[in-house]
Amino acid sequence: QARRKLIAGNWKMNKTIPEGLALVRELKGLVASLPGEKVELAVAPPFLALQAVAKELEGSAVKLAAQNCHWEASGAYTGEVSAPMLKDVGCAYVIVGHSERRQYFGETDETVNKRTRAVVGAGMTPIVCVGETLAEREANRTLEVVERQVAGALKGFQAAEVAAFVLAYEPVWAIGTGRTATSAQAQEVHRAIREQLGRLYDRGTAERVRIQYGGSVKPDNAAELLGQPDVDGALVGGASLKAGDFAAIAKGG
Ligand code: G3H
Repeated sequence: QARRKLIAGNWKMNKTIPEGLALVRELKGLVASLPGEKVELAVAPPFLALQAVAKELEGSAVKLAAQNCHWEASGAYTGEVSAPMLKDVGCAYVIVGHSERRQYFGETDETVNKRTRAVVGAGMTPIVCVGETLAEREANRTLEVVERQVAGALKGFQAAEVAAFVLAYEPVWAIGTGRTATSAQAQEVHRAIREQLGRLYDRGTAERVRIQYGGSVKPDNAAELLGQPDVDGALVGGASLKAGDFAAIAKGG
């Protein structure tokens, strides 16, 4: 059975509540005719807009995602948001281990693993991000780094859990830079990740995991990237802030 593509828009720290509502209102109209059995859509607004966006998405096929969560369910963790809270407002997905969190907020393979555990425990699906920096790519360490991140995030999970996961390969040098990976570069890493999943678990599990590509995905390069055999969707940053661009990317897939 073919993997259904997942096109997710990571708004990052953008959009007030009224701006976010305007964006999803426009988006809903543009994607209403997309064949849901082939492509699934999700948006990841900032925490503050989740509840309002969830209400706006009622009755639509577009799913709600959060950009991060803490690993504890509740407690004295000032400023944090837990997985059960995100489940409660209607999130289906939670992005975990985005490179911006690894770079600016001290995220490690171990905390990514703990957050992933919390997401699954609350009944949501993690979108686990991995990817090498430019220095790591230039030192020919891409696969070593990505495989370490994948193994770290998945530590302790069973095959049956992992099969439902979404991974996102996002080369750090391609994020927000306008410099996307070529489709061949993306496919090479996606294939390597799938082979690693086969070694860690089994072939059937590896074939079920969806692996998104992220990093300067735009309407004009989406079809080429999404046409690769192991690219199962896109995690879109900048272009997800415009309904027309995000819808065009979804249609390209
Ligand atoms: O999560 C999304 C990625 O970081 C990609 O961002 O499309 O702005 O390059 P970008």
